Amino acid sequence: MHFSLIIPLLVLFVVVMTQGPTEAPRVLLGPVFQAPRGLDTNIGFLSASSQLSRHLEDVLSSGASPFGSFTRDATSVSISMVSAAQESPLFEFQYTSSLLNVTANGTRKVSGDSIFRIGSISKLLTVYALLLKSGLVHWERPVTDYIPELRHNTGQPRDKDGINRVQWEEVTVGSLASHMSGIGRDYSSSDLSTFPLPWTELGLPQLAAADIPACGGDKVQPPCTRKEYFQGFLKRHPVFSPQSTPIYSNTAFRLLSYVLETTAGDSFENIMERDVFQDLGMTHTSVRKPQDDSLGVIPEGDSMWAFDDGDEAPSGGIYSTSSDLTKLARSILSNTRLSPSVTRRWLKPLAHTSALTLSIGAPWEIWRTKGNTTIELYTKAGGIGLYSSLLILIPDFDIAIAIMTAGPNGSVVNSVAEIVMQIFIPVLKQAARDEAAANFAGHYVSNSGTDSSVVLGVRNGPGLVIEKWLSNGSDLLATAQAYSQATNSGIIGSVRLYPTTLVQESGAGKRVAYRAIFDTVKEAETADRVFEESLNAWAKVDQTMYGRVGVDEFVFDLDASGVAICVEPQFLGIRLTKVL
Ligand SMILES: *[C@@H]1O[C@H](CO)[C@@H](O)[C@H](O)[C@H]1NC(C)=O
Ligand SMILES: *[C@@H]1O[C@H](CO)[C@@H](O)[C@H](O)[C@H]1NC(C)=O
Ligand SMILES: *[C@@H]1O[C@H](CO)[C@@H](O)[C@H](O)[C@H]1NC(C)=O
Ligand SMILES: *[C@@H]1O[C@H](CO)[C@@H](O)[C@H](O)[C@H]1NC(C)=O
Ligand SMILES: *[C@@H]1O[C@H](CO)[C@@H](O)[C@H](O)[C@H]1NC(C)=O
Repeated sequence: MHFSLIIPLLVLFVVVMTQGPTEAPRVLLGPVFQAPRGLDTNIGFLSASSQLSRHLEDVLSSGASPFGSFTRDATSVSISMVSAAQESPLFEFQYTSSLLNVTANGTRKVSGDSIFRIGSISKLLTVYALLLKSGLVHWERPVTDYIPELRHNTGQPRDKDGINRVQWEEVTVGSLASHMSGIGRDYSSSDLSTFPLPWTELGLPQLAAADIPACGGDKVQPPCTRKEYFQGFLKRHPVFSPQSTPIYSNTAFRLLSYVLETTAGDSFENIMERDVFQDLGMTHTSVRKPQDDSLGVIPEGDSMWAFDDGDEAPSGGIYSTSSDLTKLARSILSNTRLSPSVTRRWLKPLAHTSALTLSIGAPWEIWRTKGNTTIELYTKAGGIGLYSSLLILIPDFDIAIAIMTAGPNGSVVNSVAEIVMQIFIPVLKQAARDEAAANFAGHYVSNSGTDSSVVLGVRNGPGLVIEKWLSNGSDLLATAQAYSQATNSGIIGSVRLYPTTLVQESGAGKRVAYRAIFDTVKEAETADRVFEESLNAWAKVDQTMYGRVGVDEFVFDLDASGVAICVEPQFLGIRLTKVL
């Protein structure tokens, strides 16, 4: 019977994903309009939100979703979504499974302040702390500068065994943070020898006692001390040479916490608790299990709620809430702690994977949407025991979403994230477009008596379209067309303005710089190409100048509410005031 709820939603997805103007390809990576600021009052967003809540409620209680099925009513979920533009969450969703552990002392009702384990999202917090304490200063330094155990670990100055020994002098701090160090994944967890099975009867060789990890290998062994860990891990083989290809490594983040301790001169736990959690008001986040379990979401079964990770905490041990993770994300998006330039560098891919839609940052898992306008989702997933969560930042929209789940089916987080994104991405695109139409579209004219004006519109595709452009009575669109054809640069189909990241405060409002892209009409492709020339248009930005000023430079003056008052095509040296 629950399937009846699914079918209308599948229809909705199809409608949502195909509605709206067709998108022309975007030339530059980044937002096609400024990020929406008024989502909290956007009708489309609000109605999508309530529809989404009802749908998630149905999916979780029935266990059936368009993206996979799972045990009904078994997973507790907490979602929080924020925008850099507003302090309070834009969207929240809570679901309390009926399969919580009744003998544990956890919560009986999930809220935005309910505590989940966040697994590998801990890695993101570890890198954040590193950037907070010292920016990118240590990024390109070899890890041997900070961790004495890694120096000369074989007794020889430089070990030549490139296959069985990690070349630690080549492993940089940044490579550890981005899974690019090529080192092994773990020391002892998942070592088969720590599982009680008759391995020798199954054909595996007898191991020397010294080769069987005695710490951290399973849930009953104590966590490895720093000394034990290095004794064991230094014998592990590398997977690739450093800087080859992303190889997921938990060990890398334990090492980064040691780098942090050395460079910041304090313990990992102190740094996190004081400089990250307290500083950002993440009041329900902790490196260790909270003493009071009453806010914990503790599902039935082997949840690992109370499992102590020891020095593995920087990699997977932290406890947090959907509300706290979005506080961190909001701080990242609005540069409240890290400098804007460090943040811009951090929110970039550092390596590709074999998939066109997935790249790796430090340690962001960066997903790119398919379609004409690529949107990048900077995410970090985490799983431990029965906890699975996902933090998503979308810089193009200045929004972040934390999705926390607890229950037997770890895939629920992916299904929920898929539903949330498929509903919200088109709505966010539309909201940005609507705001651009309201704030920028219109007729801008000269006050100085010359016949100069610009008409900007928002229609059919990305960016602000220049519909008319006169300078002292001359039609500049016609001039651009003639110039383009005279220089064999093709027929201009449209001229569109896109926001850059250049902004200047100005009184109560601000000035924002845009660049025009002269889209040339593409000939129909007759065959798939490796070198698709139209994609190379990014290289032509700022190419054509007049008196040292790019003819594509436009600067808007915005009032305090973000509405454009005037525009300056900079090379013309004129100011055009919006009249309607
Ligand atoms: C992408 O752009 C092409 C060419 O402008 C257009 O034909 C197509 O419909 C667009 N696709 C979407 C999903 O908007
Ligand atoms: C739950 O709380 C009670 C009372 O404080 C305590 O005795 C008990 O050990 C706790 N149970 C667990 C599983 O922590
Ligand atoms: C509930 O939690 C308690 C205390 O952590 C644990 O001993 C017990 O095995 C759990 N019960 C179930 C059904 O998961
Ligand atoms: C979901 O969990 C149930 C109960 O543990 C299990 O029977 C089922 O196989 C799981 N489904 C998936 C897709 O993992
Ligand atoms: C506008 O054009 C006229 C003649 O075409 C010229 O005399 C005048 O100087 C121009 N005005 C400006 C402000 O450039």
